[in-house]
Amino acid sequence: MSDPNTIEGVFDTRAYRDALGLFATGVTIMSAMDGDSPHGMTANAFVSVSLAPPLVLVSVGHRSTMHRVVQGVDRYGVSILAEDQEEISNHFAGRPQPGLAVPFLDHDGVQLLDGALAHFVVRTTDAHAAGDHTLYIGEVEHFRSNGGRPLLFFGGRYRRLDAG
Ligand SMILES: Cc1cc2nc3c(=O)[nH]c(=O)nc-3n(C[C@H](O)[C@H](O)[C@H](O)COP(=O)(O)O)c2cc1C
Repeated sequence: MSDPNTIEGVFDTRAYRDALGLFATGVTIMSAMDGDSPHGMTANAFVSVSLAPPLVLVSVGHRSTMHRVVQGVDRYGVSILAEDQEEISNHFAGRPQPGLAVPFLDHDGVQLLDGALAHFVVRTTDAHAAGDHTLYIGEVEHFRSNGGRPLLFFGGRYRRLDAG
């Protein structure tokens, strides 16, 4: 009998997404200038790739506006969201929150999210297409760590740390 959870079987996309959702992550906003206006995209596919040099990666879906926007800029921002920034996460994940005043702050032309736990200003060094996403790898030019409690994503839902 074929195993439905192998690529050879009838691949169950829902079950596959559910399995991937068991990897608990933080939540970031990738931001880049789209002409004169800042564009943000919620992303949890954010990875530290190398410490020396300091390289990070964001995996960006080809259907997103960010995929177009990031190709037009040299630098982008990544902000790690705090636990009280769920509304901002939804806003930049295709669910615009009416009346939300997005707290962008400028660092040398790169827009970052005020109130985030940490900020990174990244200069793109490589872009690798991989399936329906492109992996944007870049060198961190500037960072700031503010600390605080993170917004988490697990099992398809936002979570908060219980303790600690
Ligand atoms: C918690 C969470 C994490 C996400 N992570 C990613 C990601 O890493 N890469 C991605 O391309 N989309 C990710 N998305 C989906 C995008 O945020 C969503 O498609 C968004 O509408 C794209 O914005 P844009 O088309 O305005 O650029 C995530 C959504 C959520 C809610």
